[in-house]
Amino acid sequence: MSERLAPERNLALELVRTTEAAAMAGARLMGRGDKIAADQAAVDAMRHVLNGVEMNGVVVIGEGEKDEAPMLYNGEEVGNGDPPHCDIAVDPIDGTTLTAEGRAGAIAVIAASERGSMFNPGSAVYMEKIAVGPSGAGIVDIRLPVKRNLTALAKAKQVSVSNLTAVVLDRARHAKLIGEIRDAGARIRLISDGDVAGAIACAWPDSGVDILFGVGGTPEGVITAAALKCMGGDLQGRLWHRTDDERQATIDEGKDPDAILGLDDLISTENCFFSATGITTGDLLKGVGYSHGGITTQSLVMRGRSGTVRVIEARHQPEKLKKIAPIGYM
Ligand code: FBP
Repeated sequence: MSERLAPERNLALELVRTTEAAAMAGARLMGRGDKIAADQAAVDAMRHVLNGVEMNGVVVIGEGEKDEAPMLYNGEEVGNGDPPHCDIAVDPIDGTTLTAEGRAGAIAVIAASERGSMFNPGSAVYMEKIAVGPSGAGIVDIRLPVKRNLTALAKAKQVSVSNLTAVVLDRARHAKLIGEIRDAGARIRLISDGDVAGAIACAWPDSGVDILFGVGGTPEGVITAAALKCMGGDLQGRLWHRTDDERQATIDEGKDPDAILGLDDLISTENCFFSATGITTGDLLKGVGYSHGGITTQSLVMRGRSGTVRVIEARHQPEKLKKIAPIGYM
């Protein structure tokens, strides 16, 4: 008889406290027009809660270089120093402008994977991406024309292309892409920011969106890969360079500038964890709510090995929290 393994620790169930804290702190500045202040509040809160998480984490994807980002900088060690040894990707607010302007779809995000398994984007700012849920896994290919991918996805989902909705960042660089999607017969949900939530929504039942196309941040691409790995979805990326100098920098860092980066290139292990908490309500998650002196949050919490995705609704008591944490939540 085979020996059954006991369930392993689910780090994501602890990491959710870091995204809840970032979301609550960032949401205080929702709609106040100051994206820098909102981001800083979320960074501070996430960093504070991360201190107490039992892990030996190194930030692979953070807020940038140490000089510009005093906290959660690339290379910073986070957690209490005990095993497990992990790579960490953070985006305390994906959608800083969405938050500042009170628009839909801002989230706080963290991903963790075993040490050495996370793609380091280096200086590569942008990545062309195609992301789908489980029904599209293995059938889309970023090298193929948009129409071919839409047709293949429609067949896999047993719907017509006209019933597919593609998520695309509303950017001038996507004018041709938008034309190709519409010519193929699919619909488009243009988002002004937040392609992590946009991509994950494609893997979430009943979100109303099916596939994400287009160029967004490279760090966001790696974070998204962790989530889609847990959910059984798929993502392919290709670094997108604005200038020859950017392309050369990628080469100088030892990377193939034209490589097709699949899920396993971005996160090369099933041993990964992901948590996202809504800041403002969007397709994926409810935003931070305030009622009767309390704060409510909604989070998606995932583990790669088991593939379990949990929706965690929490009610927080700011009066109590302020006695135990130096973070402004209310
Ligand atoms: P921020 O929250 O850091 O502003 O990022 C938002 C975002 O929309 C990402 O979701 C996306 O990957 C990236 O910016 C796109 O970059 P750009 O706005 O330069 O097109």
